[in-house]
Parts: sequence; C-alpha cells; structure tokens
Amino acid sequence: MKLGFIGTGALTSAIVAGLKSVADNSVTILLSPRNEEIAAGLASRYPDVRVATDNQAVLDDCDTVMLAVRPQIAHAVLRELRFRRGHHVVSLIATLSREDVAALIAPAEHVTKALPMPMVAHRQGPTIVFPPDPAAAKLFGRLGKLIEVEDAGEFDALAVATATFASYFKFLDTIHGWLEGHGVADSKARDYVASLFKALAHAPETTPHAGFMDLAGEYATRGGINEQVLRELTARNLFDAFAESLDGVHRRISGC
Ligand SMILES: NC(=O)c1ccc[n+]([C@@H]2O[C@H](COP(=O)([O-])OP(=O)(O)OC[C@H]3O[C@@H](n4cnc5c(N)ncnc54)[C@H](OP(=O)(O)O)[C@@H]3O)[C@@H](O)[C@H]2O)c1
Repeated sequence: MKLGFIGTGALTSAIVAGLKSVADNSVTILLSPRNEEIAAGLASRYPDVRVATDNQAVLDDCDTVMLAVRPQIAHAVLRELRFRRGHHVVSLIATLSREDVAALIAPAEHVTKALPMPMVAHRQGPTIVFPPDPAAAKLFGRLGKLIEVEDAGEFDALAVATATFASYFKFLDTIHGWLEGHGVADSKARDYVASLFKALAHAPETTPHAGFMDLAGEYATRGGINEQVLRELTARNLFDAFAESLDGVHRRISGC
C-alpha cells in the first residue's frame, strides 16, 4: 500500500512513526514537502518514506491520501489540488465535516474521517473512524484502539473528550504541587503521581463491566478520605462545571 500525506506536521509524524514501528511495516509513505524539516527527518529515519516535490505529486502517486493540514488553511490547500475519482481520502481535520471535505475533493467520493491522537506514535490510544471503513480500520487498528462510529454526531461527541487532556494534567499538577508544598521532593512527587495514575488507568480494562462510578465507589469507602474529596468537590459543583465546559466544546465542534 502507498499512503500519501498532505501536511507533514505533528500528527503525520506520529502516524508515520507508529506505522513504521509495527512488524509488518510494508506501507510505503509519500509526504508533502511542508514542513520541510519534519518531512526530511522522517524520510531519513525510515525506509520507504519519501518526500514528494509538491502536494499534487502526493495525489498523483497515491491511491490513499491523508489530509493533515490545519483547518484554517484546508480550503485554500485542497482547492488547488486535482483529486481522482478513485482516491480514498482520509481526513484528519477534526473540525471539517465529511460533507465539507467531500465538496473540496470532487470527483473523489470515498471519504473517511479519522481522529487519531499523537500517542499513535507509540501505538497507544484510540482512533475514531467514521464511517466504518475496512481499509482505515486496518491502518489505524495497527496503531492502538480502533473505535468505529456510524454517525457524525457520535464522532463529534467523542471528539469532545479530546479537549480534556490539559485539564487532566492540571489535575495531576495540583496533586504534585500540593505534595511539594508539604515537603515532598519534586522528582519523588512526580514519580509517585505518575505511577499512581498509570496504575489507576488500567482499572477499566481489568474490570471491563464496571462503570466509572462503580470504580469510584470501590475507592470511596464510607467515611474514608476518597469519599471526602469526592463529596467536597461534588458539593462545589466542580464536575457540573466540567460537564458545562464539555457542552461548550461540543457547540464549537458541531457548530450548533
Ligand atoms: N496534533 C494533534 O493532536 C491532532 C489530533 C487530532 C487531529 N488533528 C488535526 O490534524 C491536522 C494536523 O494537525 P497537526 O497537529 O499535525 O498540525 P501541524 O503540526 O501544524 O502540521 C500541519 C502541517 O501542515 C503543513 N502545511 C502548511 N501549509 C501547507 C500547504 N500549503 N500544503 C501542505 N502542507 C502545509 C505545515 O507546514 P509548515 O510548518 O511549513 O507550515 C505543517 O507541517 C489538523 O487539522 C488538526 O486539527 C491534530
């Protein structure tokens, strides 16, 4: 398979690194020349990764093409290009709907939306694919957990969850800062928090039928310290405020 990329930035780098780290790394990759430094770096690091002369050369040489430019320039970049009817276009541009992309890539008709995360570089984390597509499933299934969805609303709702990463790290930083403030050395506090949350992250996998609040309940012993923090944060509407922020992101992503 020959896979082309229009836009060679952070996400393309992660996908290429992930694909080239699997045992069957037979996918040949053709990159668009921007960003020049990133494209040259990937081509020098991996066999079967080349840099095309321009965006059109990527389309001319590949049947499957990933769109990985920022949404702000997507219209201008795609309008310039000549797609073929037989192209399979995989758009990674989360904020462009499938209809928007389809209108920009005619006469190509085979459009798949995918939302991988940078963790695919280490073949970790989920990729949402809409609509279900065997070729996209094969590709992203190698890079972590594949989540196929049947409708655009479900895709957008799942995409909202990706807005929570920074807040997650702020949560960890709050614990880390508190520990430091109470005399724990920086690196010891960091190791402790990182190791604790890595272990907790396995719980939903090891008990697949437990809901998240079942897991919370397991730790929130009546009268215990976990119950205390959960009760106090709930009483201050912290989780309601969090859900309201997700609503705001959802309005932004879905445009309504
Ligand atoms: N990063 C993420 O976590 C993530 C996750 C999900 C979805 N996405 C989506 O994936 C897309 C790419 O994101 P990213 O983080 O990889 O962005 P990025 O690092 O900014 O990469 C975008 C790349 O597009 C290149 N570019 C600019 N103008 C171009 C043109 N005319 N033709 C071809 N390439 C051009 C840029 O090159 P220059 O540096 O030379 O300008 C840059 O290398 C975005 O639509 C984003 O919303 C990103």
